[in-house]
Amino acid sequence: MLSFVWAEDENHGIGVDGHLPWHLPADLYHFKEKTSGHPIIMGRKTFTSLPNLLPKRKHIVLTHSSSLKKKYANNERIKIVTSMAELDNYLKQHENEQLCAIGGVSIFKMLLDQVDILEKTEIKAKFKTDTVMPAINYDDFELIKREVHQHDEKNKYDYVFLTYQRKNK
Ligand SMILES: NC(=O)c1ccc[n+]([C@@H]2O[C@H](COP(=O)([O-])OP(=O)(O)OC[C@H]3O[C@@H](n4cnc5c(N)ncnc54)[C@H](OP(=O)(O)O)[C@@H]3O)[C@@H](O)[C@H]2O)c1
Repeated sequence: MLSFVWAEDENHGIGVDGHLPWHLPADLYHFKEKTSGHPIIMGRKTFTSLPNLLPKRKHIVLTHSSSLKKKYANNERIKIVTSMAELDNYLKQHENEQLCAIGGVSIFKMLLDQVDILEKTEIKAKFKTDTVMPAINYDDFELIKREVHQHDEKNKYDYVFLTYQRKNK
């Protein structure tokens, strides 16, 4: 079972200058809840954007870099894959597990046909962004959960957590 976990603004923007365009602690908590205990699949730029390795999650990182592969060869918390074929192979070997793809664009585009669950956070604001979520055909998915939240002292923007499940799966 493969899920996408991401947050986007009103223009589908997801990133700027190699990091998130916003600070929204409630979404970081939501991300932690959705991904903890599961392998997280990401592109190298998303990996680089993380402040640290995230606890309780194995990091599967797609890159062309063979030197990164060497660097992390003995690190059990990181698996470097250097091609889509190698990533596909990993997905097949772990198809009975809950796997979370966390971006960025390269990963979301490559796995769009395979994803079963979408965990989307809509942030009700517009930001300067340089990275945009690929188009998703929501007709292929059924909305199964919607949680609306208003801004508060800690979270400056209104936001909605949405869960979609692929139809006929
Ligand atoms: N809002 C959200 O939920 C969210 C989620 C994720 C990321 N983001 C943001 O999005 C930005 C990063 O995402 P991004 O889309 O720019 O990059 P990305 O998808 O995370 O990483 C791109 C990198 O993946 C590797 N790659 C891509 N295709 C490959 C292939 N076929 N074979 C081997 N390696 C391949 C390459 O790494 P090498 O260059 O090392 O070869 C490429 O430079 C940041 O701003 C981040 O904060 C936001």
